[in-house]
Amino acid sequence: MPLFSRELGIDLGTLNTIVADTRQILVQEPTVVAIVVEELKMVEWGTVARDMMGRVPESIEVIRPLQNGVIAEYEITEKLLKELIRKVSPPMLFLNRPKIMLTMPYGVTSVESRAVHEAGLGAGASEVYLIHQPLAAALGVDLPINTPSGNMIICLGGGTTQAAVLAMNGIVCAETSHTAGLKMDDAIAAYVRKKYGLIIGQPTAEQLKIKIGSAIPGGEQQSLEVQGQDQVNGLPRPATLTTDEIADALEDPLNEVVNTVKRVLEKTPPELIADIIDRGVAIVGGSSMLRGIDKYLTRALGIPAYLVDNPITCTAEGAAKALAMRAVLRRSLASS
Ligand SMILES: Nc1ncnc2c1ncn2[C@@H]1O[C@H](COP(=O)(O)OP(=O)(O)OP(=O)(O)O)[C@@H](O)[C@H]1O
Ligand SMILES: [Mg+2]
Repeated sequence: MPLFSRELGIDLGTLNTIVADTRQILVQEPTVVAIVVEELKMVEWGTVARDMMGRVPESIEVIRPLQNGVIAEYEITEKLLKELIRKVSPPMLFLNRPKIMLTMPYGVTSVESRAVHEAGLGAGASEVYLIHQPLAAALGVDLPINTPSGNMIICLGGGTTQAAVLAMNGIVCAETSHTAGLKMDDAIAAYVRKKYGLIIGQPTAEQLKIKIGSAIPGGEQQSLEVQGQDQVNGLPRPATLTTDEIADALEDPLNEVVNTVKRVLEKTPPELIADIIDRGVAIVGGSSMLRGIDKYLTRALGIPAYLVDNPITCTAEGAAKALAMRAVLRRSLASS
């Protein structure tokens, strides 16, 4: 039974999209759409579409309409948003169109943010507001950002890493990098190719990362056998990888994450740095579930980095909260 909600927070992510209101999570689906190529007609979306990836005839294309956190396929994103809104709305949607707060990465261009705004309106929302993801995430994990003292958050997603310092209900300084979960998968695939002469796809690399991966070497060791394709003769062949090998493979992307955070710290006013050292840095997003990432960042930054209870859903929850308190946040909400 669809739930009635008129104010929705929508975290439109490169890999996953989550819809929430101020009480609960309403939808959580991969940001994937299957379309009939000729008519540009959407046939499936979400989990069903993701499971079709790499398994469809030529007439159908399975697409991730967002890249690096921004809309790459406008019409398809609008169709996806329309389905999401329809799914959580009462049957006669046109009588009661929702207000929505859509998230977008920090640092997007005005053209990119306008596209998000227009996609929201085109999808049937009566009013569309935009919020940068680090601000939404900070609200979603209840950081005390309504005070003059400094708070820091690192959003480790699939397509973006965003580090931000917040105070007085707004972002003081922030940086976005495109090195995140997907680049970690690429780094694992490149490692397996170089060391074992074996080609593996992104889903297999991701499995290695999630099942046995770690940010720091030298901890408890696990291993996993994966199937790949020999790069010389093209034949299938297995290889067994260990936790330390994955940590080794992740060294470069994790270094880039640290550099992104350091660039933010460099431009943070000293008074706020003192607060951040006291309070620590919250890590959120799907990639914050990489084993040992909190220890790794604590060591690399010299500031305690800590995990949160709702790393995946906090951005959508925060967006819904922001919609309810939009008068207070007025100056901090991104314009389109
Ligand atoms: N246990 C885990 N260990 C490591 N990585 C994980 C784990 N679970 C999920 N991930 C990674 O989290 C990423 C997805 O995170 P998330 O859903 O926050 O991204 P997103 O919001 O869609 O992307 P973005 O915010 O960058 O646009 C994927 O790259 C996935 O592999
Ligand atoms: Mg995200």
